[in-house]
This record gives sequence, structure tokens and C-alpha cells, in this order.
Amino acid sequence: MNYNIALLKGDGIGPEIVDSAVRVLEAIGKKYNHTFNFTPYLIGGCAIDATGEPLPKETVEGCLASDSVLLGAVGGPKWDTLPGNMRPEKALLGIRSAMGLFTNLRPAKLYSALKDECPLRADIVENGFDIMIVRELTGGIYFGERGMREGKYGEEAYDTECYSRMEIERICKVAYETALKRKCKLISIDKANVLDSSRLWRKIVHEMEKDYPEVEVADMLVDNAAMQLVRNPAQFDVIVTTNMFGDILSDEASQITGSIGMLPSASLGDNTRGLYEPIHGSAPDIAGQNKANPIATILSASMMLLYSFNLKEESDNIVNAVDKVLNAGYRTADLSHGKEYLSTVEITDKIIENL
Ligand code: IPM
Ligand code: MG
Repeated sequence: MNYNIALLKGDGIGPEIVDSAVRVLEAIGKKYNHTFNFTPYLIGGCAIDATGEPLPKETVEGCLASDSVLLGAVGGPKWDTLPGNMRPEKALLGIRSAMGLFTNLRPAKLYSALKDECPLRADIVENGFDIMIVRELTGGIYFGERGMREGKYGEEAYDTECYSRMEIERICKVAYETALKRKCKLISIDKANVLDSSRLWRKIVHEMEKDYPEVEVADMLVDNAAMQLVRNPAQFDVIVTTNMFGDILSDEASQITGSIGMLPSASLGDNTRGLYEPIHGSAPDIAGQNKANPIATILSASMMLLYSFNLKEESDNIVNAVDKVLNAGYRTADLSHGKEYLSTVEITDKIIENL
């Protein structure tokens, strides 16, 4: 088959890690007889430098015309002082919204080879953990009404958390269906002891329960969830939560897997076109040094094969190759503790050898 992939390399380590994932996809294409055509578009700081805006129209159009999108990372100190709506991060929110990607799947699992990297006590992670975070991605406080005004104490700024029934229902449907394909355990995370938006969220989660009798569903308050993730991560199978809570908890979950450099993500809407990106940022401090861990991006490419192109065997092939390379003891700088490590290009070579 022939697939057209839009590449949004972005800033910092973005170009290096996307190049690695492209090399892996090309190797997979060769092995299984697929053609992947890659078309690069600008996003983030590099787009600001070249065109004056973080998300040029051609980028949005290119993504919408593609079969799927692979993204590196955006942002860096150079653009940190720009006003909010001109920041590189705005482009990320913009492209998710323009593509209608309301679902963000963030798997966090402990690789057996990386058990020693987990900062939790050995007895806590004895049996590992394998969590799928289903984060709502185009609603909530990141997209709600915002502004500046004069308030009781003078100048103030505000952002609003707002969720409609439609938005809650569609993300919960994805979460329930995801749970059905896994261990049938769903935990919905909210702050229903304080927020009205969470109370509506919780109500709808339970209205939908009857449609999924196989799924065991429970609620958890977000502060407790932050604690439970480090107390007993193995209790989680599928988590469903809002945009902001999902943003925060997925970073926490990544740390207990050993390195944020390991976690991929898939952003999906109601068709097969998705956007795949590592959950980490652009790491400007190591950009251009051939030192970044490309595994999160390579695994994001494997998620693209599965979720957008329905190529399960090809997708599994990548995941298994990453496993083999880690089991053989190869590490990137983020996992090396100052000891010998492989460069971005070298670890990519190893993964390709193991496909
Ligand atoms: C993420 C990032 C983004 C988000 C930022 C960069 C806008 O933190 O993908 O988790 O909050 O969604
Ligand atoms: Mg984040």
C-alpha cells in the first residue's frame, strides 16, 4: 500500500527524532512492501522564524490532505517571550483542533529491561504496570474562554474549564472501547468534589456504564490519582480524563516508566487520520547533538501503523525490535547514568537491525 505522511519536525530535537522514525518506517516499508511518502511542513518556532506564525495555513492544509501526521516537538527558549497566541505551543493546540483530534492515547508501560530505571521501590513495580491514558484533547481549560480583566484586586487573568455533554460522551466512548480491548478496567479521573464540569463528567461516565457491562468502571479524584500512580501503578488499566489532568498525569506516568524519552502518543478524531508524537518536549539543551532518545517517536510511528493504517504486524514488529534492543542492554543518554550510551542515529540503527 501507499501512504502519505505529513512530517512536522518542529524545533529542538524534533528533526533528529523524526528522522529516526522515518528511517524505521522506511525499513518497515521495504520489509512489508509498503510505500511511505513523506512531506515536511513547518510548525512551531521554526515556522515563526520562516513565516511569522507558528501554524502556517499550508501546514494545516498539508496535514488535512495527508493519510496521517508524524510530529517531533515544538518550542524553545528563543520563542518563550512571545505573547501566548504566537507561541510555538499554540501551534500544537491549533493543529490538534484543526484536525479534530479529540482523543489522545498515551500508553505508559514499564519495560522489563528498564525496571531499574523506575524511581519507585522494587516491591511496588515487581509485576510491572501497563496503563493506557485516554486524555481528552480539544476541550477543557486549554480551549475555554480566557482573558484579562480588572477584578477585585486589580489586574487579573482567567481561563475557563468547560465540557459539553457531547465532548464527554465521545471521549468516554473511546475509553470504554479501549478498556474492552484490554483488561476491562476503566478509571475516570476528575475533581468532582469541587468542579461542576467534573460533576457532569462523572454523571455521563456512569450513564454510559450500562452500554459496557463487561467494563468495571470507577471514579478517582485527580489529587488521589496523582498519589495512586506512585503508590500502586499496577492498579490502573485504562484511565480517562480531561485535557489538563491528562497532560499532568501522563508526565507523572512517564517518569515511573524510567524516562520520558520512552513514551509515544496517538491523537485521533473520528476518522483514521491521526497525529503521532512523543509526549516529551523539544529538549533544546541537547538539540543537534545526536544525543536524544528517539524511541518515543519511533513507538509513535508504530502507533500510526496500528491506529491509522491498521498494520498490526508491522506495528508489533517495531515494538518488538525496541524491546530486543533494550533487552540487549543498549541505552541512550537519558538512560545511561553517565555510562556509555548510543547516539540517536546508533540506537536507530540497532532498532532497524532488529526489525
Ligand atoms: C503535551 C504538551 C502540550 C500539551 C503543550 C506543549 C501544549 O505538554 O503534549 O503534553 O499541554 O498538550
Ligand atoms: Mg504535557
